Amino acid sequence: MVEHRRSALRTAAVWGALQQALQQNQQQTGQQDQQQVGQQDQQQSPSGWGSPCRVVDLGGGTGGFAVRLAGQGHEVTVVDPSPDALAALDRRAAEADVAARVRGVQGDATDLGRLVGESSVDLVLCHGVLEVVDDPAETLAASVGVLVPGGLLSLLVAHQPAAVLARILAGRLDEALELLRDGPGTAVPRRFTEAEVLGLLAGAGVDDSPYLHGARVVTDLVPGAVVDEPGATDLLLDLELLAAERPELRTLASQLHVLSRRR
Ligand SMILES: C[S@@+](CC[C@H](N)C(=O)[O-])C[C@H]1O[C@@H](n2cnc3c(N)ncnc32)[C@H](O)[C@@H]1O
Repeated sequence: MVEHRRSALRTAAVWGALQQALQQNQQQTGQQDQQQVGQQDQQQSPSGWGSPCRVVDLGGGTGGFAVRLAGQGHEVTVVDPSPDALAALDRRAAEADVAARVRGVQGDATDLGRLVGESSVDLVLCHGVLEVVDDPAETLAASVGVLVPGGLLSLLVAHQPAAVLARILAGRLDEALELLRDGPGTAVPRRFTEAEVLGLLAGAGVDDSPYLHGARVVTDLVPGAVVDEPGATDLLLDLELLAAERPELRTLASQLHVLSRRR
């Protein structure tokens, strides 16, 4: 139960931001549709994408986000090289009664375009994947390549400063030093600074001003016993969501989350 609460808190900021972006898109698309009907020009397709969306979850693993999105009616394809993860995804989707809207495809990021089709999906999740692939820039380009123009990229990466801080607080000073010296993430799993993430995005064909926020600012710092206290979950959730938006607290975030549209 505590683990369930922790997991909900860990994903709260990312899920919240994603939901907001999906709602905004739906509103924009609705307005464009109305304008087009007013202009008697119903053949022209809107530049936003509608709902339900076509979603690809690259390296989606056991499908935490995929199953939740399918529960909202979206069509989700999870591309992951791990057969075990895909089997767990199938079980999870069946338990949630969304198996008809979740498809698992065994494959690698380098094959993404061939597996799902270039310029064919509305939303790509690339969460926790740039840390482990051979070439993060190539994976990012593949993720953007399968989006329709205007489609949304949700990128989540491990944040280097928080990893350094965690090791200092735990007294693991050698590891902290190694992480700091490592530069732009050569050791796998990689961790990224904000500048490195923005640098990768700059060459990826997405809009110039992505929405960037922190995730797991509070959840990974708070002592475990506090999560157990009666009434703590709501308080922690409010704290997590507020802290995620504060640039001055972003340095402490275990992850960085970026939302950006394909140009
Ligand atoms: C840290 S897990 C992240 C899982 C999930 N996206 C999440 O955020 O909880 C990394 C995932 O990337 C997958 N992965 C590893 N190498 C990959 C590759 N070359 N292409 C695509 N996915 C890969 C792993 O199998 C694993 O499911």
